[in-house]
Amino acid sequence: MNRRHLIGAALIAATAAAATAAYAVGPGDPSSAEDVDGKHFDADGVPTYTIAEDGTVDWYTYSGFRRYHAECHVCHGPDGMGSSYAPALAESVANMDYYEFYEVVVNGKQDVGSGQANQVMPAFGTNPNVMCYLDDVYIYLRARAQGDLPRGRPAKKDAKPDAFVEAEDACMGG
Ligand code: HEC
Repeated sequence: MNRRHLIGAALIAATAAAATAAYAVGPGDPSSAEDVDGKHFDADGVPTYTIAEDGTVDWYTYSGFRRYHAECHVCHGPDGMGSSYAPALAESVANMDYYEFYEVVVNGKQDVGSGQANQVMPAFGTNPNVMCYLDDVYIYLRARAQGDLPRGRPAKKDAKPDAFVEAEDACMGG
């Protein structure tokens, strides 16, 4: 197990430990209960989005939009809408929780016996371009799953928080 994989495993352990016993199935109530330097968390401590009345999204939602389209779009289609090859993640995220989402992205997935054995979700646990931004991708998809974010690039966004830059440097460089 190399170091990157350990980062992913540690993330899972950390987030699992933070879970309360009673988090809802699926994404649950997306309302922000806590704002940690511009990153939002719901009442269960799961990352979530904010969208102001004028459509301004928090930075993480915007970052997630960009990362999704860099790393996931090629198989999962634009805007989380799905393709003939891979499922619509805007729907998947409505039906799985944050921890299940992480598990699939870290370890990959291949349905056996579905007649589509050539359709493989790669394991991204060792890919920093995905792992360092996976919360962002989740936050973006959660907004899409909830029907609160229209298709396309969000027109307005909050400024990039310093905490984002610090976490990015630590994750990508360390
Ligand atoms: C090379 C193509 C490919 C790429 C790139 C890819 N995926 Fe997938 N993904 C798949 C396929 C195919 C499946 C369906 C696998 C199955 O059901 O066996 C899948 C399944 C999933 C699932 C489970 C969905 C469900 O409803 O069970 C999640 C979550 C997921 N992918 C997230 C992501 C994220 C996030 C990214 C970008 C970081 C990504 N994938 C990039 C091909 C891909």
